[in-house]
Amino acid sequence: MDTLASYDELPYDSLPLPETQPDFLAAVARLHGFDAPDPSRARILELGCAQGGNLIPLAWRWPGSDCVGVELSRVQAETGAAFIQALGLPNVRIQHGDLAALPGDLGEFDYIIAHGVYSWVPPSVRQALLDVCRRHLSPQGIAYISFNVAAGWQALQPLRTALIERTAANLPAPARFQQALRVLDELQAEWRDPVLLKEIAYLKSAAPSYLFHEYLADLNAPMAFAEFAAQLDTHGLRYVGEAGPRRAVVELENAWGLMPEGMAGRWLDAEAALDDAFAIRFRRALIACDDAPCAQPPQAEALSGLSFHADLRSDEEIDLEAATEQGFVNPAGNTFPIAQPAMKAAAMALSAAYPGALDYAALLSAAREVLAEHEAGAQMDEAVFRQALFQLTMAHGVMPTVWAGSFAAEPGERPCANALAQQQARSPGWVVSGERHVAMDLDPAGRMLLSAMDGSQTVDELAATMQATLAQSGLEVQLQRVKELTWQQLWLFARQGLLV
Ligand SMILES: C[S@@+](CC[C@H](N)C(=O)[O-])C[C@H]1O[C@@H](n2cnc3c(N)ncnc32)[C@H](O)[C@@H]1O
Repeated sequence: MDTLASYDELPYDSLPLPETQPDFLAAVARLHGFDAPDPSRARILELGCAQGGNLIPLAWRWPGSDCVGVELSRVQAETGAAFIQALGLPNVRIQHGDLAALPGDLGEFDYIIAHGVYSWVPPSVRQALLDVCRRHLSPQGIAYISFNVAAGWQALQPLRTALIERTAANLPAPARFQQALRVLDELQAEWRDPVLLKEIAYLKSAAPSYLFHEYLADLNAPMAFAEFAAQLDTHGLRYVGEAGPRRAVVELENAWGLMPEGMAGRWLDAEAALDDAFAIRFRRALIACDDAPCAQPPQAEALSGLSFHADLRSDEEIDLEAATEQGFVNPAGNTFPIAQPAMKAAAMALSAAYPGALDYAALLSAAREVLAEHEAGAQMDEAVFRQALFQLTMAHGVMPTVWAGSFAAEPGERPCANALAQQQARSPGWVVSGERHVAMDLDPAGRMLLSAMDGSQTVDELAATMQATLAQSGLEVQLQRVKELTWQQLWLFARQGLLV
């Protein structure tokens, strides 16, 4: 009950989570030799879906899908249901209820998503979550379960203990959060351990709900990967692969000579060893029924059957002649070093196509074209290129997908945003989601513009509307300047695939 109350008092920011998108999950599964169902016609279940910030955009994107969310917090479930009703979306519903007491007639699902749930619920609910996967996964279905990993959490436990001990558990969640911030200041002055100090610095700017639910909530039970795999085993499930970014991947010698069953044990041991080597604290595990075909460690060869999208930029001039390492940055601020000229060219081609995706063959020829356009003498060695793409894909610099999507590239004469984006923009507490399932950070003026983009106004009229609205809130801005800002925003919306 404490956990439930805290979720009602300090709702978890309900955001689109790119790594839970079924088209991405299907692509990752394919890298592991596992064929998952077509996401655009899939049944998708999200457990602990909060208000549906992740699930609703998926249902919107794929009208042929059927999406069900289950959420224990009544406040969040009802907020989500009201949003769905206002949007008039027929293929998604959010059910208020306990995932451990699901009605038996829910049927089978091709994708089951449980993000931020497994480690934060009592052991009985953890077991129930795995039971739900076994009972409701379709034969080739894929479940995504994220959880905290003991290898990385060991070093952070003193911080959790100190925050719990030095704050009052009986305070309402928001007040306890404020108290925790003061404790972080104290600990920063007292402690010397660099790992803990780095985490304290991060927590001071992280979302309040993150600090609360990771460090103050009664339940946060990190688990060793081996134990997680054993739990899967006892529930008739098996590990398929990892949907989180990876700095290193498991390669088994003679992997192709071994029967998949023979390989599984070695693979799981190697995964556990990676967690220790990199002090991994969070995993996003892909899971299938144990009678589904076996998966294997990810294989670069499987890239040829996938498409890719990426939104990368580089602040330096890109050197397409030499294999010098250059940093490419994604919108989340993560930097990916790329050395191989053909891969740099591919990153440029993907960024130009974003939010569109290029399949492997198209990416290869686009990279060749970029090299030719820049008269770069570099030879394209496909085996080397594939390996570079594999590494970048595993690190999530490039996202693999099985869904190409199609997006309006330009604002047009009377710019129109899709109905989901308009509805998100005019709903306080909802984040606007880009078509590649990323959360957009929009200021009030950006939201105002988006919610006015119903296709009835020209750009000049939109700018005049914006100027008048800004004036009403006491902000006098020259029309020319408002027009410039309007255009900037329109291009940003186009880049996120929000225009129709
Ligand atoms: C940390 S939040 C994660 C929310 C969302 N999945 C996300 O990642 O943004 C965990 C969610 O699981 C819900 N939850 C906890 N126990 C549950 C249960 N037994 N049945 C259904 N939902 C539950 C909580 O109310 C909360 O909304």
